[in-house]
Amino acid sequence: MTDIEFDFGLVGLGVMGRNFILNVADNDFSAIGLDLDKEKVDSLLTEGEGRVVHATQDKIEFINKLSSPRKIMLLVPAGKPVDIVINDLKPHLSKGDIIIDGGNSFFTDTNRRFEELAADGIHFFGAGVSGGAKGARKGPSIMPGGDKHAYTYIKPIFEAASAKVNGEPCVAHLGNGSAGNYVKMVHNGIEYGLMQLISEAYSLMKNGMRLSNAEIQSAFSTWNQGRLKSFLIEITAEIFDKKDELSEGDLIDAILDKGKQKGTGKWTSQNAMDLGIPIPTIDAAVSMREISALKPQRMTAETLYGAKIAQTIELTIEQLEEALFFSFIVTYAQGMQQLVYASDTYNYDLNLETISKIWRGGCIIRAELLEQMRLAFDKNPSLKNLLLDEIFAAMIKPLVPSTAKVVSEGINAQVPLAAMSAGLNYFNAFTSGRLPMNLVQAQRDHFGSHTYERLDREGIFHTEW
Ligand code: 6PG
Repeated sequence: MTDIEFDFGLVGLGVMGRNFILNVADNDFSAIGLDLDKEKVDSLLTEGEGRVVHATQDKIEFINKLSSPRKIMLLVPAGKPVDIVINDLKPHLSKGDIIIDGGNSFFTDTNRRFEELAADGIHFFGAGVSGGAKGARKGPSIMPGGDKHAYTYIKPIFEAASAKVNGEPCVAHLGNGSAGNYVKMVHNGIEYGLMQLISEAYSLMKNGMRLSNAEIQSAFSTWNQGRLKSFLIEITAEIFDKKDELSEGDLIDAILDKGKQKGTGKWTSQNAMDLGIPIPTIDAAVSMREISALKPQRMTAETLYGAKIAQTIELTIEQLEEALFFSFIVTYAQGMQQLVYASDTYNYDLNLETISKIWRGGCIIRAELLEQMRLAFDKNPSLKNLLLDEIFAAMIKPLVPSTAKVVSEGINAQVPLAAMSAGLNYFNAFTSGRLPMNLVQAQRDHFGSHTYERLDREGIFHTEW
């Protein structure tokens, strides 16, 4: 093992790193890992037995043992650690070597690193990796962006290690510069939206329809056999099946209702605002994590305003399924539209058909529905919003009455439905040829002479109100 040249190097042998390097080795690429932590190095050496995989704490050994051009992936926490590792390795690298950042780095950091390394002839890729530890081990969805020619060196390794759907790898070169990190960021924004929607469906079933955990489990499990089939619905059914090991009852009931976040959902919302693209379901999901984190204030407010024990809601599981399916579609539509506009603004040259394709497997937002999206973007590569596709329109239209019923019943019963109602309002606005924004324009002109345009003639107008 000491004399061979390794095909692939990985820095950061935490859970994700170890799983990913073992996956690469399982696919017949020799791989070497680097970590300062001896325990992690030893773990990989033990777990890697029987494969062509090695691990070291010595960066010079690591670098010298990689074949040229060196292909080095970093799986370290986003932010400063990425810069520290890059600066540490850079003096020992050669022109043409490739560094791939596999973390959830902010896309502007990726642009900076791309430029800095390009000055030394080193190729830099931001490659979002989705699927958690299991995905990293068995096949994640990988979203790389960077120099297209340099990608040919990493393509065989990534294609072998990625998840497959119908034999097709869930990885592709997505675009220039930070395209890969950007796409992964929006993936996570959609992930936040879908998770919040599922939790609202749970809340409706538990607090409104008064269903037991077993009945809720059965609903999710049934839904996962139909058009809602997706990773997040599947794991939700599993969650409701889990008994608590530390007390009597179901584990779900023992978990504190305070949402944590590492920032990718918030970045998606912030950047959508910068682009001027509405993604209200995702915004609502981020806000709900923030509201949930104000637990002590919520507890005080509950005593002040009274607990929400409203009337039992008369809804069927079928109506709820329709509302959730509607809300899922609208969430993907928002995220996809953000990608369409980001592609123009940042010159990523994204292909939405390819993105839908590589999201069909391996990643957290994988769902049956993504194949329909792939077909829509394949049919019309310049589609600006999935809601404008005729097949989607035919799919969505019959879902609207149930969604409106679910949202109105829920709101009447004081069940918070921030994401579901945001999605419905987005849909109602997006599908309205006329909105009351004429009044806002009039107000702007009234108090600030901001001018307005007219429906019946060209030009810019101002009125002395
Ligand atoms: C994935 C996930 C992953 C993300 C977690 C946690 O695609 O595998 O998106 O990258 O880190 O979902 O994110 P939050 O801590 O922000 O919820």
